[in-house]
Amino acid sequence: MAQIAKIFAGRAQQVLQTAAKQPQLAPRFYCAAATNFQYIKTELAGEKKNVAVITLNRPKALNALCNGLIAEINTTLDKYEKDDSISAIIITGSEKAFAAGADIKEMQPNTYEKCIMGNFLNDWTRVAKCQKPIIAAVNGYALGGGCELAMMCDIIYAGDKAKFGQPEIALGTIPGAGGTQRLTRVVGKSKAMEMCLTGNMINAAEAEKMGLVSKVVPADHLVTEAVKLGEKIGTHSQLIVQLCKESVNTAYETTLQEGLKYERRTFHATFATGDRKEGMTAFVEKRPANFQNN
Ligand code: CAA
Repeated sequence: MAQIAKIFAGRAQQVLQTAAKQPQLAPRFYCAAATNFQYIKTELAGEKKNVAVITLNRPKALNALCNGLIAEINTTLDKYEKDDSISAIIITGSEKAFAAGADIKEMQPNTYEKCIMGNFLNDWTRVAKCQKPIIAAVNGYALGGGCELAMMCDIIYAGDKAKFGQPEIALGTIPGAGGTQRLTRVVGKSKAMEMCLTGNMINAAEAEKMGLVSKVVPADHLVTEAVKLGEKIGTHSQLIVQLCKESVNTAYETTLQEGLKYERRTFHATFATGDRKEGMTAFVEKRPANFQNN
């Protein structure tokens, strides 16, 4: 018994030390889960531990997105997607870099044939296909594939010193994971064209003004704010959250008429769920809703 108490005391000490080293995590209790990853760290956050945080962890390469790192993100998303206790996922980096793009050193020897035959970058799309809400919490550089990774997420929060850019043009190539497509849909042709053709970076305030990020917060509060957002989403029915996410994403894939029809039919479909019934009944009865994800 004394031995077990000692193990628990040691574990608590470890968690407190982690929080002390990462002040942005300190205000909320973090449960550091054991992981065997090389390029990322994963943790469960929030009072109910229902917000998963994936931290890119290649500091020496400014979190450049090598194949191994993308594979680790994908494996982790597969796991979280199946885990009913996870309501939202955060992808973040370090204070200096969210991610400085695809790994140029890894990519440098690639050939045209190799890109085509290996369908290079195809596995990056896993993030955009995740059924659960993903929040990008961007501090520092989000360049090239880093900016594209953030845009694959559903919501972007930025630290006040974040910098976004598509600098591929300076490398003799073009964005390959959505920079010319998602960015254009989000900020419009003129801004996207300027960013892609010059390679110039924009700061967090400009990104917010353009609608690329939904909120700018002090850098050291970024993850805490993103966790709060994840927790808020987690108070709703996960079933309905998923339908809502699909409906918003449909706006990017269809004409307005098709999108409106998709939305209307999805709205109708919510009337087949227990959670729609519970949500409206709870409102009428002036009590909090107790969603069951059915
Ligand atoms: N790939 C591989 N390594 C990278 C990298 C990248 N994208 N970005 C930074 N690094 C490495 C550097 O090579 C350096 O490593 P060494 O110490 O071993 O030389 C280390 O990270 C630190 O970088 P810097 O010394 O350059 O740091 P800095 O503070 O002076 O500059 C920076 C920071 C402005 C972000 C600069 O590193 C930079 O311009 N990086 C490249 C950004 C870029 O071009 N991204 C687009 C990549 S292509 C792409 O993403 C294609 C796509 O669409 C998918």
